[in-house]
Amino acid sequence: MRTIIAANWKMNKTHAQAEAVAAEVAASLKEQPVQDREVLIFPPATSLDCVSQASQGLYETGIQNFYPAEDGAYTGEISPAMVHDAGGTWALVGHSERRHIFMEPDALIAEKVNFALAHDLKVMLCVGETLEEREADQLRTVLLRQITSGVSGQTAASVDNIAVAYEPVWAIGTGKSAGSREILEAHEIIRDILRAVFSDGESVPILYGGSVKPGNAHEILGLDNVNGLLVGGASLEAKSFLEIVRA
Ligand code: PGA
Repeated sequence: MRTIIAANWKMNKTHAQAEAVAAEVAASLKEQPVQDREVLIFPPATSLDCVSQASQGLYETGIQNFYPAEDGAYTGEISPAMVHDAGGTWALVGHSERRHIFMEPDALIAEKVNFALAHDLKVMLCVGETLEEREADQLRTVLLRQITSGVSGQTAASVDNIAVAYEPVWAIGTGKSAGSREILEAHEIIRDILRAVFSDGESVPILYGGSVKPGNAHEILGLDNVNGLLVGGASLEAKSFLEIVRA
């Protein structure tokens, strides 16, 4: 199983700032290659082009959000063709900030998954429960709903192009990552769901996200069914992101 270490820069960095971090990451990966890890950066859309160009093939890039249409009257939106044009090969779909701040429903998320895959973008589907859902014992129900609706309509052929990121909403940007027991439990549930949905569900990478830092990355990566990390705050500086890449 491959291991994916992904940076989600969210709404941070000007073009020049993005270019500087990307150049530092590429230089380090060139000097000291990582054999067993795929590195991925989701910069803001305005920097996708320059971050892709700086990669020298050493990492991949993706879009944080897009709209599931070829083109047309969708003010403010970005199409998969534009993502390809800017060098992106991945799309983040269903991030908790999209679900909770921008009120994206499961149906739109499913549409985006379908559209991205049909337009040759790999998909990182983000799932995770809120604190209220966890306290109400809804973890399995929420994960089942988010995953089955997100990948409904996908066939075995899509498996190679999908990754799932488990990001408990209460751990994102709070400085408080989930504990090993909580991560193990959620990732096992997700693996069971993926096995039920896809005959080859075993091979879908499951990433953990939520307050990953250089100090906890190694331990989290050692847990069963953890096949990578999706890093927000700690990916904004090249130094800490690279420490996580090499954790
Ligand atoms: P965080 O964000 O690492 O800052 O908690 C993770 C994410 O939202 O992808």
